[in-house]
Amino acid sequence: MKKVSLSPKISTFPMPTAVISVGTGEEANLITLAYVGKVCADPPIVVVSIRPPRHSYQLIENHSEFVINYPTIDQLKETDYCGTRSGRNVNKWKELNLTREEASVVKVPMIKEFPWNMECTVINRIELGTHVCYFGKVVATHSDPKYIKTDSLDPEKFHFPAYIAGNYLEIKSGILEKHGFSIE
Ligand SMILES: Cc1cc2nc3c(=O)[nH]c(=O)nc-3n(C[C@H](O)[C@H](O)[C@H](O)COP(=O)(O)O)c2cc1C
Repeated sequence: MKKVSLSPKISTFPMPTAVISVGTGEEANLITLAYVGKVCADPPIVVVSIRPPRHSYQLIENHSEFVINYPTIDQLKETDYCGTRSGRNVNKWKELNLTREEASVVKVPMIKEFPWNMECTVINRIELGTHVCYFGKVVATHSDPKYIKTDSLDPEKFHFPAYIAGNYLEIKSGILEKHGFSIE
């Protein structure tokens, strides 16, 4: 196989499309992020990376809390909207008819209409370059029960969007194999 060399900056495999809530009360804002991922199981730690010019940057800096709200594919328009408008100019909650739902631990509100919400408190931050990376300890997780099977996310029911190279993709059901299948 002959391979081509690519820029190290090229987008890699699909990333999530999550809408993050930051800030509290009337100031609370929504920002779509693709740079989101889990990095530790116990304690459960996730990372999100935000560029300092974003309106959301100062809000996460001020409050050191955030909520990751995962949409379904039916909520793609809301997701794109939150990633193409700034909270400096619009109230994204109001424009999209989204409801602020009180979180159980953090003061940042969750998106009621989105089926999966993870409350996080910032335990560390690293200035990496274009983005500041925040490490968040997950202090509570909530889901619409219809997406849960034996205490975890049912991948056959949860049709969520992913993002790669400027495109939204549907991660469809279709489990290939179970973890560890190569052992037998
Ligand atoms: C699919 C998608 C993924 C994005 N991922 C990020 C990201 O990981 N980090 C970031 O700083 N901005 C990201 N953005 C851009 C912000 O969401 C966008 O600039 C937004 O309008 C900022 O809102 P704010 O000014 O209200 O904070 C993404 C946008 C889209 C549409």
